[in-house]
Amino acid sequence: MKILVVGGGGREHALAWKLRRDDPRVEIIAAPGNPGIAALGRCVPLKATDIAGLAALARSEGVSFTVVGPEAPLDAGIVDHFRQQGLAVFGPSAAAARIETSKRFAKDLMLAAGVPTASARTFTDAEAARADVRRLGAPVVVKASGLAAGKGVIVAMTIAEADDAIAMMLEGNAFGEAGHEVLVEEFMEGEEISVFALTDGTHILPMIAAQDHKRIGEGDTGPNTGGMGAYAPVSIETPAITGLTVDRVFEPTLRALRDAGCPFTGLLYAGLMLTADGPKVVEFNCRFGDPETEALLPLLTSSLLEPMRAVANGDSIAGAAPFAWSGAAVTTVVAAGGYPGTVRGGSAITLPPDEEGVTVFHAGTARDASGTLVTAGGRVFAVTAVGGTLADAQRRSVAHAERVSFEGRRLRRDIGWRELARSARTP
Ligand code: AMP
Ligand code: GLY
Repeated sequence: MKILVVGGGGREHALAWKLRRDDPRVEIIAAPGNPGIAALGRCVPLKATDIAGLAALARSEGVSFTVVGPEAPLDAGIVDHFRQQGLAVFGPSAAAARIETSKRFAKDLMLAAGVPTASARTFTDAEAARADVRRLGAPVVVKASGLAAGKGVIVAMTIAEADDAIAMMLEGNAFGEAGHEVLVEEFMEGEEISVFALTDGTHILPMIAAQDHKRIGEGDTGPNTGGMGAYAPVSIETPAITGLTVDRVFEPTLRALRDAGCPFTGLLYAGLMLTADGPKVVEFNCRFGDPETEALLPLLTSSLLEPMRAVANGDSIAGAAPFAWSGAAVTTVVAAGGYPGTVRGGSAITLPPDEEGVTVFHAGTARDASGTLVTAGGRVFAVTAVGGTLADAQRRSVAHAERVSFEGRRLRRDIGWRELARSARTP
């Protein structure tokens, strides 16, 4: 069986790795892929957003189905295009992907469906937005409505900061079109977790929760990044929280999307704030999270391939066995010097020898003209260690990540610290 994986980051490497683990006979074709994925299959130099090119590739290779990693091709309608051509594909239509690509659409849908989330209003007029900020008081959250590469959210601790964000987006041109409509949102207090659910549009297979570490610095300090690491499982996700998440978040959201005429198929990602009033949605994403996927998939002992294939083929997953999990995982991201600011690619990389229980997923790597592995992005690797305990997984993930060497390399040594602090408090 051939499977086409669209994308070329750590998430796509983890997906390709898991699909091959589920069935070693699977032939992976990745576009554009990366040098890590190239060790598992064949990479074809097509951009993830070259929809016509990807469809032609899927057809000429006779792939069984295509898995779409990033949000950009989903937003651009890759799933609609593939389905029109009769090609099996795992992911949501562009209309369903609006749950991520339009914060306004997501917020309106959640509020109408009674899904717990922060209250918010949408504005295109800066004066009206500023008035709403004053009505809510600080802290308050200002968000660009469109896709802004994860940077369009300002959690303003003061009214002045909120005013600056509004001016930047509505009066300036920060985030371009994506920022010409803003949401002014109530601030929620609590700890955040990421919960993924694989769905055929109606039935769901939820995954265990993971926690992402978005700040560059240890102790969750400094500027936001795409994610400096993740771990799973998360003990604050109790069975009661899982139940609430399924009943009050996933089920009503999927129903609302079906009722809106755009059923969501693929992987629905709920970013949840565990507030004193229960879990509330911070955001939805229409795809697997990165780097949570790199932490979760090595713990998944049951097949991802089977339910993915069913959903890609338009089949039901009703009655599918729940996902099964074992162990604890810590993923430490190895980033380039300067990240999350501008980074310089092309630094030669030396990797340590393979180690049992540790997987090095490539995120931003490339081969130069002479075939040397070099850096090619802000997040360069996601190093996942699986252990019997989280402490063990953290120790081995950090030790291995520290042995990855290239100029300017930076990493956090404390991924999972909240969980380790919790378990230290539990007798
Ligand atoms: P988003 O891109 O919507 O995930 O937002 C980025 C980050 O901003 C989230 O991961 C939260 O940490 C924070 N955030 C977003 N909305 C809120 C909110 N209403 N209250 C508190 N923090 C928020
Ligand atoms: N880990 C956050 C994201 O994938 O959006």
